[in-house]
Formats: sequence, C-alpha cells, structure tokens
Amino acid sequence: MTQVFHTVTAMRDAVERAAQDSPKQQPVVSIVPTMGALHSGHAGLLRAARNSADIVLASVFVNPLQFDDPQDYQHYPRQLDHDLQLLAQHGVDCVFAPGLEEMYPGYPEGPLIRVNTGKLGQRWEGASRPGHFDGVATVVTKLFTILHPPAPAVCEAWFGQKDAEQLAVIRRLVADLNLPVRIRVLPIVRDKNGLALSSRNVRLSDEDYDAALSLSRALFTLAARAESGKTLDVEGLRDHLRASGGVDLDYLVVVDPNNLQEIAHGVIHEPALALIAARVGPVRLIDTMDLRPALSPPQ
Ligand code: PAJ
Repeated sequence: MTQVFHTVTAMRDAVERAAQDSPKQQPVVSIVPTMGALHSGHAGLLRAARNSADIVLASVFVNPLQFDDPQDYQHYPRQLDHDLQLLAQHGVDCVFAPGLEEMYPGYPEGPLIRVNTGKLGQRWEGASRPGHFDGVATVVTKLFTILHPPAPAVCEAWFGQKDAEQLAVIRRLVADLNLPVRIRVLPIVRDKNGLALSSRNVRLSDEDYDAALSLSRALFTLAARAESGKTLDVEGLRDHLRASGGVDLDYLVVVDPNNLQEIAHGVIHEPALALIAARVGPVRLIDTMDLRPALSPPQ
C-alpha cells in the first residue's frame, strides 16, 4: 500500500521502517524525485525503479528555487490527488509531498545555504534561467538527505534523459559532494508524434502543439545526419526553426555530454548531445537527443 507523508520527520521514520522491515539483508531503495503533474514519462521512471528496487520512494514538490519566472511557478500544474493515484498504481511504497514551509522554513529568506553548481549550471538552460540549476541541486541534495535509507540499504535515484543538462549537473553534484546515491537514467519518453512528454505540455493549444513538433523533428534530423556521417549543419536548422512560425527558439546546440560545452558541428566523430529549448505559446519546452557518429566514413 502506498503511504503519503507531508513532513520530514514522518517520511524519515517511514523510510527507516521500510528498510528495517525488508526481508532483504541489503535492500535497494530507489528514489524518484518529481514536481508532480505526472505523465507517462514519470510513469516510465516509476516502472524502472519498481523493477530494479526493493523499496520505491517518490517525491512530489514544486520547487520554487528552480523557477526564475514567478509566472511559470504560479502556473505550474498541481494535481496531487491524481498524482497519488498514479504513484499507487505503480506500486510506490512511500510518497514525500511536503508543503513549501516544511521544505523551506522561512521561505523566501530560507534556505540560507544553497548549492552552487558553478560553470556547469550556467550553460544553455542555466544561462537562460539564472539560478535554475542551483535550485535543482539544492532541492535534490535535500531530498537525498531526507529520503536516504539507513545502512546497509543501498540507495539509487532515477532521473530522465529528457532533462539532459539537469542529469549532467546531478551526476556532478553526486560526484563532487560524495552523495551516497547511485544515479540511474531513463531514456526520453515521447508521444506518438515525437514530442517529448512534459508536465507543461497541457498548456499547449492545438496550434502550439503542431509548432512544438518542430523541436523533436530538428533533433531527429541531427541524429540521422550524425549517423550517416553527414555534416550536421546546426546553423541551417536554427535558421529553419527561426523562420517557421509558432516557435521562439532559444538555443539549438550540439555539446559534449560530459561538460556541456559546444562542439564544432561539422561531422561528429564522438558521441554528442543535441540540446534544444524554445518558447512555444505560453511555455518553454526543452528536448534533447543523443547523437552517434557513423560507424565508418561514408563511401
Ligand atoms: P519533473 O519535471 O517533474 O521531472 C521528474 C523526472 O521525470 C525528471 O528526472 C525528468 O527528467 C523525468 N522526465 C520528465 N519528462 C520525461 C520524459 N518525457 N521522458 C523521460 N523522463 C522524463 O525534473 C524535475 O521534475 C525537477 O527538476 C526535480 C528533479 C524533481 C527537482 O525539483
């Protein structure tokens, strides 16, 4: 049965009990952090976590520290009852759904101590949304601290490849601060037309939706060019997106997956990552794609 907790103390007690009650000597505990408004992308994470772990913990918290735009924070969809149903359907053991005051007493003054993600957190999405990745890293550090099971349980946390920059920041956070959590990754879940699933998609009109499809189309084009050993011509794709209506392109770049630095985009010889962000109607959408180089040079 899925249990829901709204306070740090109650959640900690529940995690400790679940680990102690496990028939396993060294149970694997999986954490799935979310901001709610759950969709099939989140469901994929929950399924993967359920398949790999003995105990599954999820969190639902819309984290104000990672929103640079108050409007976006205010309009972010909140539907806890629906989320709890989905979490129960996926066999989540304990859900942590704290209120703002529980997570950040004295907000907005608190928390005084925040995680600084440095240069890594200032690229692409970080450049357009100052402070965003510091906010993500701060909440993820808190969630790992609150949800971490007592030894000898093993702790892992699931994240989606959809937020590729976020993933790079979290991997680095775990490495640099020696957080005792193993990071697991789920590939992007898309709808039947290729649009990456996102909680923000519910705010797209039919017209916006059609325009939004051009984001994933650009990424699929890059992947196909990379695999066939052709020049990527990122600039050409940018021009095309800027000329087509309905999409206000922020960036389309090809980067090194480890440090997120832009790489020269002729023909790629190493695996790379394409990142795209654009405003479509009332929302900002991001998407990403792994680019694999051709196995052998074209004839
Ligand atoms: P949220 O946007 O709710 O996403 C929660 C998790 O679901 C993230 O790891 C995200 O990458 C994954 N996800 C979302 N859409 C996906 C899709 N279409 N395919 C695969 N995975 C997908 O990301 C956050 O929340 C927050 O920043 C959080 C990490 C919870 C910190 O507040």
